Amino acid sequence: MGPAEVLLLGLAALLAWAWLRRRRRARGLPPGPTPWPVLGNFGFALLPPRLRRGSWLHRRAAGADAAVGPPRLLAGLAREYGSVFSFSLGPHLVVVLNDFRSVRQALVQQAAVFSDRPRMPLVSLVTKEKGEPGLGPRGPPRPPASLRPRAGRLPSAPQDPREQQRRRSRVAVAVHGIVFAHYGPVWRQQRKFSHSTLRHFGLGKLSLEPKIIEEFKYVKEEMQKHGAVPFSPFPIVSKAVSNIICSLCFGQRFDYNDTEFKKMLDLMSRALEICLNTQLLLVNICSWLYYLPFGPFKELRQIEKDITTFLKKIIKDHRESLDVENPRDFIDMYLLHMEEERKSNSDSSFNEDYLFYIIGDLFFAGTDTTTNSLLWCLLYMSLNPEVQEKVHEEIERVIGPDRAPSLTDKAQMPYTEATIMEVQRLTVVVPLSIPHMTSETTVLQGYTIPKGTVVLPNLWSVHRDPAIWEEPDEFHPNRFLDDQGQLVKKEAFIPFGIGKRVCMGEQLAKMELFLMFASLIQSFKFALPKDSETPLLTGRYGLTLAPHPFNVIISKR
Ligand code: HEM
Repeated sequence: MGPAEVLLLGLAALLAWAWLRRRRRARGLPPGPTPWPVLGNFGFALLPPRLRRGSWLHRRAAGADAAVGPPRLLAGLAREYGSVFSFSLGPHLVVVLNDFRSVRQALVQQAAVFSDRPRMPLVSLVTKEKGEPGLGPRGPPRPPASLRPRAGRLPSAPQDPREQQRRRSRVAVAVHGIVFAHYGPVWRQQRKFSHSTLRHFGLGKLSLEPKIIEEFKYVKEEMQKHGAVPFSPFPIVSKAVSNIICSLCFGQRFDYNDTEFKKMLDLMSRALEICLNTQLLLVNICSWLYYLPFGPFKELRQIEKDITTFLKKIIKDHRESLDVENPRDFIDMYLLHMEEERKSNSDSSFNEDYLFYIIGDLFFAGTDTTTNSLLWCLLYMSLNPEVQEKVHEEIERVIGPDRAPSLTDKAQMPYTEATIMEVQRLTVVVPLSIPHMTSETTVLQGYTIPKGTVVLPNLWSVHRDPAIWEEPDEFHPNRFLDDQGQLVKKEAFIPFGIGKRVCMGEQLAKMELFLMFASLIQSFKFALPKDSETPLLTGRYGLTLAPHPFNVIISKR
């Protein structure tokens, strides 16, 4: 290419950029960095990591600090563009809400418009969504035959051809589970059923307490094995939290040494970590990348296959051993409900494909979130021994050294609760919530938000807003207590989100956090090994915010 062509190309790019900038302003969209044609603001993700650090996002929001995660970067951009700003991910407009006012206005006051989920190609590919009419791409494009993996059939292909036909027509609606389901009747039915079934098995109620307390016995045993030697609490906590979901869904817990169980947990945690890998995010711009036979693309496909095999085997075993009179767990209840619905409603959304994705949702949404919250609690207690002592004093006073903690103790333990809340405020394990999407064009704080806009509620920046929280970066459990030491509710404390899509497992998570945390501090004193470096408190950002690996030393109380 000669100098004249280069100059012409440069000029054309500059004109396109200026045109896009003017068009954005004319449409009344929230302010934000001007996108480039096709690639939007994330073209830099195609660059090698060294050059990526010089991109607009890193330069403008956080200097050259590559350890800064997306929620912090976005909060940094809010200082430049305002608390409601936008950017483009390929052809998709993304609006970020960085303060409590805008999050509440969108997710609560305009819930009917802001409660859909985006049709992100990456999610559609993983959940095998079939095309459906409406906004966004009609399901993922099919890859070339040479790249197409041999997808396993969904479970329980029925023998009866009429049933097969009926099932095909149902699947054509969209199979999404709950987390990524579109806001509408199918999501409503599935969420309502799942929530009430989990409640039936004790979610948020005293009847689940013995299971959590029993699980803690294994935690204690495992931790004691380490004696005075430093160890990582990650695997123990994650297996315990996962086993509680297993008890609810499968009616069984797994031994901590069960190799298949261990493998599944590693795969889930890896999937959450890599699905925000910038190369994988590009699948949302160019879906075909998903089928590339190398790198994170190949890894994610393999993870999806392994998890599918694991969960489908469990569903199959349940179907074969189902006792209509004695449903043992969530899967049995779902299979029975499915059968009932099949008799009375040929268009029912209840089918085994949906069950599979719901179970997957409960694992993905319920394991990493609660595990990371508990790990953060242990890390903050190790770093703040005086707070740990105060929590322990309260436990001694209300429960004593031997009796297992109970939910009925919670009302008398405001300091323990305030400590858990302060850890959750600072660490926000789902910092950007789960993306929402507008189902209609609307106006938010004077800006036009077109139909189909992806909306990211930045819970991290809501929890660090200096206009709401005094010394927002400091760890002060007392901020959740009044002068009498009683717990005070803060409306801007929203680790579980707000509005119609608020976390479905909130009661379960709160139960687990309280009972496990109180049991841990009742049994052990936690400290960091003497010669260890203080772990960074910024966390590792996947879909959830996990603490950087750390070891603890325990001493028996
Ligand atoms: C400390 C633990 C947890 C935290 C911080 C947390 C946080 C969240 C957040 C922020 C959302 C997104 C809300 C939104 O889209 O606006 C969410 C959604 C969800 N969570 Fe949790 N979660 C936790 C534990 C759990 C557990 C234990 C379960 C399962 C039993 C669960 C199941 C779900 C489901 C199914 C959704 C999707 C709801 C929907 O789209 O309708 N979560 N959670």
